[in-house]
Amino acid sequence: MRAEHPRTTLMTGSTGFLGHYVLRDLLTRGHRVVAVIRAPLADSSGRLLALLAEVGLDAGPLIEQNRLVLVEGSLPDRLPGPSWGPTDDILHNAASLQLFSNGNGDPHKTNVGGAEAIVRWAEDHGVRRIHTVSTAYTCGWNTGVILEQFHEPEPEFQTDYERTKWQAEILFKQWGEQNGRTLTVFRPSFLVGDSETGYTTQFGGFYQFARLVGVLKQRYFNPNNGARTYIPLRVPGKPDDVQNLITVDFVSRIIAEVILAPQYHGRIYHLTNPEPPTNDFMKRCYEDYYGLYGGYFADPNEVVGKCTQAESMLWDQYHLLTPRVVHTPHFDTTNTRRIMTERGIELLPLTRERVLMLFDWAAGKGWGRAAGNGKSKSVSLV
Ligand SMILES: NC(=O)c1ccc[n+]([C@@H]2O[C@H](COP(=O)([O-])OP(=O)(O)OC[C@H]3O[C@@H](n4cnc5c(N)ncnc54)[C@H](OP(=O)(O)O)[C@@H]3O)[C@@H](O)[C@H]2O)c1
Repeated sequence: MRAEHPRTTLMTGSTGFLGHYVLRDLLTRGHRVVAVIRAPLADSSGRLLALLAEVGLDAGPLIEQNRLVLVEGSLPDRLPGPSWGPTDDILHNAASLQLFSNGNGDPHKTNVGGAEAIVRWAEDHGVRRIHTVSTAYTCGWNTGVILEQFHEPEPEFQTDYERTKWQAEILFKQWGEQNGRTLTVFRPSFLVGDSETGYTTQFGGFYQFARLVGVLKQRYFNPNNGARTYIPLRVPGKPDDVQNLITVDFVSRIIAEVILAPQYHGRIYHLTNPEPPTNDFMKRCYEDYYGLYGGYFADPNEVVGKCTQAESMLWDQYHLLTPRVVHTPHFDTTNTRRIMTERGIELLPLTRERVLMLFDWAAGKGWGRAAGNGKSKSVSLV
């Protein structure tokens, strides 16, 4: 009976930004996936099919062929029974990206409660392989070179989100310590849109900041002063510090590659940018995109809380908009580089042209405020 089943992965979070890319990549490589999506099933199915269509996959025929199975469920307490047959492995990608607790139980409920539920489900149904999507920032405030290893003792964290993702990693680690079990952990840094098309369904952080710079430009633009607008804005931070941005299609490609090749299971992968853009490079991108000049770097202590009117448009939410500006660890990527070499996978660099293309795509969608096929998100800042 089992031999007749194609290898099957149970997946959470397929309707998310990263999730629909990974699902597309697994399905186009012939894999069978059971996607747990939230109630009501009909709405989430429609949303997922529309998202897959946006990234070039018509999933209708795959549902008919039973290669994509959509089942209703949610974390932490509504995971479905395995009506689809044997499950070979689990890809746990769902998460709450809420940065701080606000009384709704998240991010702890989904991220820690969800991890406990996945572990229980694996134990109840004899699944011995779990792949989980974490974040590069489970390193918290640790500095220096961050290895593709578990971070113990518990680091100090900037956000509740980071802490809950770390707690989830440790739960999975404990699960994986028993013989015969294999755990794989993926740790992306900050996801941005598709490196070829600019497509995104998430408009936080990088995009939210670009949108605010646009608002600033509109406010101070004066046609009598020429096309470029002079705003002597202090930028809190150091020009050479980096922002670890990584394109979603690259992250997805590596995750799919690892899942499909069991020899790559059982490791931690930093899905981070080995040549992340510097603050100075990003500043020049914003200036070029909007036709601005006059900004200069300054000590955050001199700026934050002491802003001019123009500055406060950007920096009042400084700690949320630039959560990593004062902490830029260097991520070791030995495991990821090995796969890139062996499988000939390239990471397209974030050149000025590519960054402007990402801005352009998002601006065309009203920075996430225009209604799209997918469920656009405009507030997450992870
Ligand atoms: N975005 C980033 O920059 C970034 C960086 C590092 C790591 N990550 C990690 O990458 C993974 C995917 O993130 P993403 O950016 O793609 O997030 P996303 O767009 O917000 O998607 C989250 C997914 O999780 C599902 N989900 C959330 N809460 C759930 C619950 N209680 N029960 C069941 N499903 C739930 C969502 O379902 P609905 O569609 O129904 O809401 C959605 O499919 C997460 O593990 C995240 O921590 C993301």
